[in-house]
Amino acid sequence: MAGIYIHIPFCKQACSYCDFYFTTHLLDKQDFLDALIKEIATRKTYLKSLPIETLYFGGGTPSQLSTKELQAVIKAVCIHFNVIENAEITVESNPDDLTEEYLQQLFNIGINRLSIGIQSFKNEDLELMNRAHNSQEAENCVALARKSGFKNISIDLIYGLPNATLEDWKTNVEKALQLDTEHISAYNLTIEKGTPLAHSVTKGRITIPSDHEVVLQHNLLIELLAKSGLEHYETSNFAKKSSRSKHNSSYWKGTHYLGVGPSAHSFNGSSRSWNISNTKKYVELIEKEKSHFETETLSLIDRINEFILTGLRTAEGIGLVHFESYFGKKALSNLLRESQESLSKGLLEKKQHRLIVTARGKVLLDGITSDLFFEK
Ligand SMILES: C[S@@+](CC[C@H](N)C(=O)[O-])C[C@H]1O[C@@H](n2cnc3c(N)ncnc32)[C@H](O)[C@@H]1O
Ligand code: SF4
Repeated sequence: MAGIYIHIPFCKQACSYCDFYFTTHLLDKQDFLDALIKEIATRKTYLKSLPIETLYFGGGTPSQLSTKELQAVIKAVCIHFNVIENAEITVESNPDDLTEEYLQQLFNIGINRLSIGIQSFKNEDLELMNRAHNSQEAENCVALARKSGFKNISIDLIYGLPNATLEDWKTNVEKALQLDTEHISAYNLTIEKGTPLAHSVTKGRITIPSDHEVVLQHNLLIELLAKSGLEHYETSNFAKKSSRSKHNSSYWKGTHYLGVGPSAHSFNGSSRSWNISNTKKYVELIEKEKSHFETETLSLIDRINEFILTGLRTAEGIGLVHFESYFGKKALSNLLRESQESLSKGLLEKKQHRLIVTARGKVLLDGITSDLFFEK
């Protein structure tokens, strides 16, 4: 099995915290789509003939494309790849794009999973983040999507926002739970260098919560979502039974995937490639049939560290049997030796041949992970 990620770089406006690759030059849309469809055709052998189980439109803002445009891209993928019946097809979307008519069309063209970037239900937060939507749109979009037939909806939230108290965050989580979606992704705000938000923090114009306050928000999130029956299956992801994101899970399981569109990454088991993060240059290079991506062959240590990093983020942890069969006995004994300290501190536990981060370890995940990394 394999997956395809399609990066749609367009955004209505720049959110103050965002460091993902996006452009607000929507005029170049048609040139971009032509190039994207050409890239899909030229990279048709990348995944050999593996069956494609998931398609994921991420961004940027894929809901800036019309359903006709999305459909043309899906068609190109289906022509050149072996897409299975009932493949999971996700579209990331922003609440302000989700009119009743658009949602109905999305559903009609076969999109069966909708991921909505709500981030917060509070207008002050949304303004500070320079989001294009308001709290009313945040609250209404899920009901509209349900009305159009969507049965698999995920929403994104961000905690650790400037000025947000624990009480504010609790209100956001409770509002999210009332929407009763199948899936919630909740991210700790990262102050990314070079963003307007980072600039405001450096200038002292806004203050962000202390590490202690962020830990309290993180713990509250886990507690409230667990009480509502959502499984915490990956560091930032929570799902109802059978509603895990198949596409994102494939990244954590080491499944092969092709990424198309500017800045998209691909992985085929032995190497990783990344497309140029510039839409204009991406279009030009594809038009001229010149290389538009760089490739790095992964060393054994790169692959081991990746396995550790992704494994520890998931509820299943690192499968020790798989680890040994992929990397050998010596690597396994090295891993077990390095994990002793976290095991003895109760930050990791060993269950059914798996190394899993404990509830206490979750807030210290980065440190636990780097302690287990193999040195190059
Ligand atoms: C790249 S965005 C794309 C989806 C869509 N454009 C949106 O804004 O909702 C995917 C998600 O990453 C999260 N995200 C982006 N920048 C972040 C940051 N600096 N810190 C934490 N989460 C962030 C947001 O929750 C966002 O929904
Ligand atoms: S957060 Fe989403 S909508 Fe905002 S700039 Fe980034 S990709 Fe675009």
